[in-house]
Amino acid sequence: MNRARRPVIAGNWKMNKTASEAAQFCRDLKARLGDPLPSAPEVILFPPFTALPAVAHEMNGSAVAWGGQNLHWEESGAFTGEISGRFLAELGCRHVLVGHSERRALFGETDETCGRKVAAAVRSDLVPVLCCGESPVERDAGYTLSIIQAQLDTALMGSAEIPVVVAYEPVWAIGTGRNATPEQAQEVHAFIRQWLAGRFSPAFGAAARVLYGGSVKPDNVADLMAQPDVDGALVGGASLDLDSFVKLVRVPSA
Ligand code: PGA
Repeated sequence: MNRARRPVIAGNWKMNKTASEAAQFCRDLKARLGDPLPSAPEVILFPPFTALPAVAHEMNGSAVAWGGQNLHWEESGAFTGEISGRFLAELGCRHVLVGHSERRALFGETDETCGRKVAAAVRSDLVPVLCCGESPVERDAGYTLSIIQAQLDTALMGSAEIPVVVAYEPVWAIGTGRNATPEQAQEVHAFIRQWLAGRFSPAFGAAARVLYGGSVKPDNVADLMAQPDVDGALVGGASLDLDSFVKLVRVPSA
């Protein structure tokens, strides 16, 4: 972690928590966090769409932000079941996840659709949190960095400097309990930062926040965040439980 970049702890709830469960979690979270410390990380919750109004209601005026887990690349139209950036922005979202590996693996998202979604997010004044990561086969074959490069090349193609956050989430570490070692994370994070510096500018690369995701827990977050290019965590399973999420939020400023 580099103190010049504000760390981020983001909770990706995936398809968990109804609106009322989310509201209760938020009330409990506010009570447990108290007044935020000046050095506290930026905290972002990514609830399911149906819980966004409840989270917005509970967290309005707090230091905790919220965002969508996905968006469509068009603003409106005949796209049954889809949600656009405008809808998220109206609910007070400032961020949106793009290209999570579950969306790529289970719902057919490609680097091309990610690129369209990144552009759509920016048009709606949302910060895209672009997820990238290699499969176990790709890692074992030594293709990790070239896969990451291809994912970034396509998803950020044609974009001028935009307020993007990149989340490195090795597919083999998501929900498996097998997280990347701090050294494995650092190698890829440094590569992503270098890519951003080359694609946009050295200043952009130096300021951009690159999060790690994949089986982050209270007992491994400090070692991961001690790496110079790891600026925070995108947390799935451990963000659903109040105790572990509170611990995760407290660790970076400890
Ligand atoms: P996990 O999920 O923390 O449960 O591994 C991370 C993610 O999918 O964003």
